Amino acid sequence: MTHADLGEEFRLEMDALMEQLKESLPKVIGSIDTRIALPPDAEAVLKDFREPLPDTGTGAQATIERLIELNETAGGNVVGPKSYHFVIGGSTPAALGADLLATAYEAITYTWLLSPAGVEMEIQALDWLKELFGLPESWPGVIVTGATMANFVCLASGRQWWGEQLGFDISEDGLAGKPQMPVLTSGFVHAATLKCLAVQGVGRGNVQRFCRDDFGRLDIDAMEKALVELDGQPAMMIVNAGEVNAGEFDPVKDMIDLARQHNCWVHVDGAFGLFAKASPRTAHLVEGVERADSVTVDGHKWLNVPYDSGYAFVRDYGLMARAFRYSADYLPEESSARPTPGAIGPESSRRARSFAVWATLKAYGREGQRRIVEHCLDIAQYCAKKVLEADQFDLMNDPQLNIVSFRYNPGGMSDEELDALNERLGAAVLADGRYLVGTSRMGARTIFRPAFSNWRTRTEDIDEMFEMLLEVAADMA
Ligand SMILES: Cc1ncc(COP(=O)(O)O)c(C=O)c1O
Repeated sequence: MTHADLGEEFRLEMDALMEQLKESLPKVIGSIDTRIALPPDAEAVLKDFREPLPDTGTGAQATIERLIELNETAGGNVVGPKSYHFVIGGSTPAALGADLLATAYEAITYTWLLSPAGVEMEIQALDWLKELFGLPESWPGVIVTGATMANFVCLASGRQWWGEQLGFDISEDGLAGKPQMPVLTSGFVHAATLKCLAVQGVGRGNVQRFCRDDFGRLDIDAMEKALVELDGQPAMMIVNAGEVNAGEFDPVKDMIDLARQHNCWVHVDGAFGLFAKASPRTAHLVEGVERADSVTVDGHKWLNVPYDSGYAFVRDYGLMARAFRYSADYLPEESSARPTPGAIGPESSRRARSFAVWATLKAYGREGQRRIVEHCLDIAQYCAKKVLEADQFDLMNDPQLNIVSFRYNPGGMSDEELDALNERLGAAVLADGRYLVGTSRMGARTIFRPAFSNWRTRTEDIDEMFEMLLEVAADMA
């Protein structure tokens, strides 16, 4: 085959593929409400999936048909209205359309040169997010893959600050022979933050957690005592604005007040919790966040843009630029007129996640985002009410935001027996597949903890979830 043959062949194949997608894409998107959350036969379907590299492939159309078939029978429908495990959002129409186009255009947002529109959308979208969350206009930000990488950017910038406070440049000199950076937080700290600190040379084991109970709520007096003992030495404080088991918050304002009396970098992990700001009903939960030094927010959770999308905001541009410096003779110099997001964050080459973020904010504005958040707050309250009304369930939290913690309790069992029962029920529910809802722990107790962050979820879905839970529990018995 010559190069000309290949070009001709692929162009024709692309035309045929577009015809095929015209039919299949509306079906895929149109069945999001009805497709099962977790196909229960996935393991059997995928049993013989792996195969040696084909010598001659099956061609685009047959391959795409097979891909759709695989997803119908063995793909999770996490964007559907019945997925409440972890913290998973939906996709608004504008965001989904824009994200498809980001791939169709293959827009690269490493630097302005490659996609002026994509980079401008990123800057505009981040500015709008700062307005939505009440963060200072002057803060730079960067789009990354999610809250883990946003924490990575924020913590790397904070670590850079810490080094500079002590008179060295970590990004140039490394950590060898340097003292340990003190990191103080509550028991609400997320595993993603610990992962970042692990790879940034701090070590998970060196994170100091100040807790006043077994759930991990902050003991602020103990934290203050530790800061006094540091006697002005620079330290990192991590505020957890939205914890994943019950949707509780560290006391954001009090922690930042405390940090400001000492020499701290304050990082706020608001992956989903920062969306509390979008509604007057919940904004108080993150009051004072604008006085932090860095803030993490996730987009694929409550902004309802497709995976993967998260945002890091940092008070000081120079710290980000020094921590993530990316320069070579063939690369463009960073300039404010023609920015290079790839030089202030971890990824150099990066797809245009900005398309979806810009599009959803442009399409629905502040009001649309408030409606998405309040819809989910209402769903959480509805779910909590259902738990309270049912004899066989105990409500385990007073939901402040979008997470409801409850357990199945048929009566006559000890806490420990209920823990074991709920763990078994959790596994059986996932095997059933109608709902993606999981268990976790609140202190010593095993709980279900549905997190509602998707505009698609309806009250009927909640009614059916409780019917399903009772059905699965009865089958298990
Ligand atoms: C508070 C918090 N931080 C960080 C993360 C990690 O986010 P991601 O999976 O988007 O990287 C999560 C995910 O649920 C979270 O809830």
